[in-house]
Amino acid sequence: MKKSIIKGTGKFLPPHIVTNDDLKEIMDTSDEWIRQRTGIHQRHWITEEDACGSSDLGTEAAKMALEAAGWAPEDLDFIIFATLSPDIMFPGGGCLLARNLGLNSTPALDIRQQCTGFLYGMATADAYIKSGLANKVLVVGAEVHSSGLDKSTRGRDVTVIFGDGAAAVCVEASDTEENVGLIASALHADGNYADSLMTELPASNLFKRMPEGVSLDDPRYFPVMDGPTIFKKAVRMLPQVTQEVLKKAGMDIGEIDLVIPHQANKRINQAFGQFLKLPEDKVFHNIQKYGNTTAASIPLALHEAIEEGRTGKPGDVVLFVGLGAGLTWGASVYKFA
Ligand SMILES: CC(C)(COP(=O)(O)OP(=O)(O)OC[C@H]1O[C@@H](n2cnc3c(N)ncnc32)[C@H](O)[C@@H]1OP(=O)(O)O)[C@@H](O)C(=O)NCCC(=O)NCCS
Repeated sequence: MKKSIIKGTGKFLPPHIVTNDDLKEIMDTSDEWIRQRTGIHQRHWITEEDACGSSDLGTEAAKMALEAAGWAPEDLDFIIFATLSPDIMFPGGGCLLARNLGLNSTPALDIRQQCTGFLYGMATADAYIKSGLANKVLVVGAEVHSSGLDKSTRGRDVTVIFGDGAAAVCVEASDTEENVGLIASALHADGNYADSLMTELPASNLFKRMPEGVSLDDPRYFPVMDGPTIFKKAVRMLPQVTQEVLKKAGMDIGEIDLVIPHQANKRINQAFGQFLKLPEDKVFHNIQKYGNTTAASIPLALHEAIEEGRTGKPGDVVLFVGLGAGLTWGASVYKFA
């Protein structure tokens, strides 16, 4: 049976770093509050000078992943682009990214699964590979949050946690009987919690997408989040979906060498590790450097975990797990070939 094997990874962050102290200059917050509540020390944000879209950040990450895989863009037979911050309303960022790579006919699919974009993207890549529809797939997660955040004190709970960034993986079909590659995925969504984390405007479900008389400073034009509800959901659902995916994979938690969770809040991931009785060094964190980069977060963590030698050797098993807006949540088990 065909297996989905990661052949290369890449990342790209806009160069400008915004520290917690920088945020203190524009809103009522503190380095201490942000570090204690989230584990974040800094994040990367685009500037007026290097303003660009998520597809542009994704393109740079994709180039690095392609080089690591030894592939040319023309080798790709499918592109999956995950973002909640598309460059423009339409067309999708996958088309723009393919254009940036010099392609003009490779199929490109956008997915809008927010923090679980990479999990849904990998599961989709795997389904395309297993069904024989594709052999070389590029999965990209990329976000430009900073241009849409409420940078006043009103938006501080959301704004301090989000960072811009991108990461990409090249996934290839391999004909092998070995139990390697993407072994199992479990995905979920519950739209009943859509209001817990959303940006409401502009909205196509209104007679006028940008309603008359509503100021562009209206909170509905910015992401709003019921942080405590999402926190509680994450602490409950992440262990649950982990048990589900391990059962599908026919493994137990002791066989996981490294957990690479979505980087939404360090306390969520520490609580997850404690619940599953994992040693601290088995859960990977890089939220301190980047904040929450949403669809980019898991592949960015994967890229750095490989770079740091924490995983990537043949036989190493990693667990990807995350929850975010939608709500969507999920997990997958991957074994390096
Ligand atoms: C956002 C989050 C960090 C807030 O932490 P929290 O401990 O739940 O804090 P609360 O929202 O209860 O707010 C506590 C206080 O801090 C204040 N506060 C919020 N943001 C602040 C900031 N950036 N700086 C200083 N104070 C802040 C609140 O106004 C509140 O003040 P009050 O007690 O006077 O009303 C946390 O809820 C969280 O991480 N939630 C999950 C996020 C997530 O996973 N999202 C999905 C993926 S995107």
